[in-house]
Amino acid sequence: MRVYFDNAATTAPDEAVIEVMVDAMRRFPGNPSSIHKEGRTARAAVEGARKTVARLLKASIGEIFFTSGGTESSNMILKRAMQDLGVQRIISSKTEHHCVLHTLDALQREHGIEVEYVVQTEDGHIVLADLEHKLKRTGLKTLVSLMHANNEIGTLLDLQAVGELCQANGALFHTDTVQTIGFYPIDLTQTPVSFLVGSAHKFHGPRGIGFVYINANNHIHPFIDGGAQERNMRGGTENLAGILGLAKAMEMAYGQLEEGKQHIDSLKNYFIEQLKANFGDLEFNGDPFGQGHYKIVSVSFPPSARAELLLLNLDIAGVAVSGGSACSSGADAGSHVLDALRNGSPRKTIRFSFSRYNTREEVDFVIKQLVEILY
Ligand SMILES: Cc1ncc(COP(=O)(O)O)c(C=O)c1O
Repeated sequence: MRVYFDNAATTAPDEAVIEVMVDAMRRFPGNPSSIHKEGRTARAAVEGARKTVARLLKASIGEIFFTSGGTESSNMILKRAMQDLGVQRIISSKTEHHCVLHTLDALQREHGIEVEYVVQTEDGHIVLADLEHKLKRTGLKTLVSLMHANNEIGTLLDLQAVGELCQANGALFHTDTVQTIGFYPIDLTQTPVSFLVGSAHKFHGPRGIGFVYINANNHIHPFIDGGAQERNMRGGTENLAGILGLAKAMEMAYGQLEEGKQHIDSLKNYFIEQLKANFGDLEFNGDPFGQGHYKIVSVSFPPSARAELLLLNLDIAGVAVSGGSACSSGADAGSHVLDALRNGSPRKTIRFSFSRYNTREEVDFVIKQLVEILY
C-alpha cells in the first residue's frame, strides 16, 4: 500500500481533468492566435476557461491572465510592480514561499528596493498592529505581499483585514493564494486585493499552469516579452490543454467545496486524535486548532535516533509526506518557516497534507507505520 499525504506539495490531477486535457489536445489543433477556424475555436476555448476562473473569484474576465504557475505569477507581480507602479518598499513576512522571498532578495540586491518583514507570532500569524505601524511609517510607495495560507504550517491570513488595511493606507496588496484557491471561497468584489495568484496543481489540476489576477486599476507591462498573447501581458503560445485542465479542476474544487472541506477536516481531526492517542510528546506547528488550513498538519516529534530518518523510513514504509515543505533541491534541508518562527528546535517536523480523495483507512495505515518506526 502507498499513501500520499503530501497534497500541499502537489495533488494528483483528477480523472475528469485528465479527460478534458486529452480531449483538448485532440479537439483543438489550432493556435489560439491564428485567424482561421481552428485558431478561432482554440481561442474560444481559452476565453471560456478565463471566464470560468473569473466567475469563480468574482473578478472581471480582463483581470485574469494565465501563466505557468505560482512562481511565475508572483515574480511577475513583484518585479513589474516595482518597475511600472513605482513601488519603493515591500512589506512581507519571513514565512512566505521562496518564490516571493527569493524575488524580494533579488529586488533588494539588484534594485535597492526597501524590504521590511512584519512581526509574526509563534504560530505564524502576522501582527496586524505591526503591519499598520509599518504602513503608516513612511510615505514610500508600498506593496504588501502576504500569503493567504502558509504551505508548511497552514496558518491562515485574514485576507479581508489585511486588504482593508492596505487600501486605507494607499498600499498595493499582493497575496499568494496558491494553497487556498479551490479550498476557500474568494470574492474579489468584497475583498480588496490588487494581485492574487493561483496554481492548478494544488487543486487536482495539471502542473505548469496557473494564473494571476491583476485588479483593473493596476497597469503593468509584460514580464515575458514576445507575442501578443494574454492581451499583450505574456508572450508565448498558450498551454491550451493546461488552461482547460486548470478551469475544469477549479470548477470541480469550488463545485464540491463544502463536501471536500468537511471530508478533509474530519480526516485531519481523526489524524490528530490518533497522533495524540499514540504519541505523548508532540508539538503542532501553526494554528491547526484555530485559523489554520484544514488540509495541513505540521507536527514535530521529539528528537531521537529513530526520529532522525523519519521521512525516509515513512517513504520506505509506503507513506509519502514532506519534512516542512517539498524542497526543490530534493534534500530535506530544514524549514525556513520554522526557523523564522522558533529558531533552533531539534525536533523532527513532518508535514502531512490531505486531499478529498484520502480516507480514514489511509490515516490508520500511516499511524501504524509511525508507531512501528518510532517505537
Ligand atoms: C504557497 C506557495 N506559493 C507558491 C508556490 C509555487 O507554485 P508553482 O509550483 O505553481 O510555481 C507553491 C508551491 O509549491 C506554494 O505552496
